[in-house]
Amino acid sequence: WAIYAPYVVAINELKKQRNAVILAHNYMTPEIYHGIADFVGDSLQLAIKATEVEADVIVQCGVHFMAETSKILNPAKTVIIPDMEAGCSLAESVTAEGIAQMRAKYPGAPVVTYVNTTAEVKAASDICCTSSNAAQIVAALPDDTIIMTPDQYLAQNIANQVPEKNIVWWEGSCIVHEQYTAQDLKDFREWNPDTRIIAHPECPPDVVAESDFSGSTSGIIDYVTREKPQKAMLVTECSMASNISDALPEVDFVGPCNMCPFMKKITLEKVLFALHTMTGQVEVDPAVAEKAKLAVQRMIDLSR
Ligand code: 13P
Ligand code: SF4
Repeated sequence: WAIYAPYVVAINELKKQRNAVILAHNYMTPEIYHGIADFVGDSLQLAIKATEVEADVIVQCGVHFMAETSKILNPAKTVIIPDMEAGCSLAESVTAEGIAQMRAKYPGAPVVTYVNTTAEVKAASDICCTSSNAAQIVAALPDDTIIMTPDQYLAQNIANQVPEKNIVWWEGSCIVHEQYTAQDLKDFREWNPDTRIIAHPECPPDVVAESDFSGSTSGIIDYVTREKPQKAMLVTECSMASNISDALPEVDFVGPCNMCPFMKKITLEKVLFALHTMTGQVEVDPAVAEKAKLAVQRMIDLSR
């Protein structure tokens, strides 16, 4: 912590001067998560928080689509992402043209789009979802056939949870979660039978089937905090366990994890630079933002 302290002090001081808040995702490194964030959460919690912010400036410590969502919800505020290159393999996997192709293939079916997408894709969709509310949103729609984009694995996991719906999907995937295999988990369990295995729903369905619990990043934190298993393997991004291990000394976090190279682009140095220079401002075409907001707001309204 000694090497981080000067950055933490300087950033917290600059936040006051700029009237800024830092919204940070659960995958941020511990020095960001514990040192400078005003609010931490999963994608849905961050989107809801963005609707409640009173500060003039939002610094999004997360990936670009999260900052875009904050801007869509707050067009008059300044939204900053400390590294414009903090992307997402899911957001890169589909365009508005792809959504149009799916609509042509399944006429009349509503498009439920994961928030891990660009503003243009959200604008071309009917409603957004996150990993914490996807099943609820799909179940609430009156249609039998539902298009889910862009995460094929989230779609397949939701199809298992809501079998009465005919869910069709785009073929995108998360480069972090697609790497886990069911065989890895089986092998791990054989050697560590008393480990609670907890997987994010961006993992393939056979990985989720091998796990004891699956949920959004905040769902995972709530589960481990509530259950306090002796040993826990978090089948997700590495910073999750680092961020919660101090508060849960009775839980031994074991097993491998995968790093998200996009989330890891956000560092204390870059946050300090961005706040100092007010660079990295996220802009969304107002016409696109207006349409995208409808899809995001419908999701928020359905999730309350
Ligand atoms: P959550 O909504 O569960 O936080 O997931 C966001 C994400 O990018 C996971 O890879
Ligand atoms: Fe995208 Fe996966 Fe990284 Fe989340 S963990 S930001 S879904 S690449």
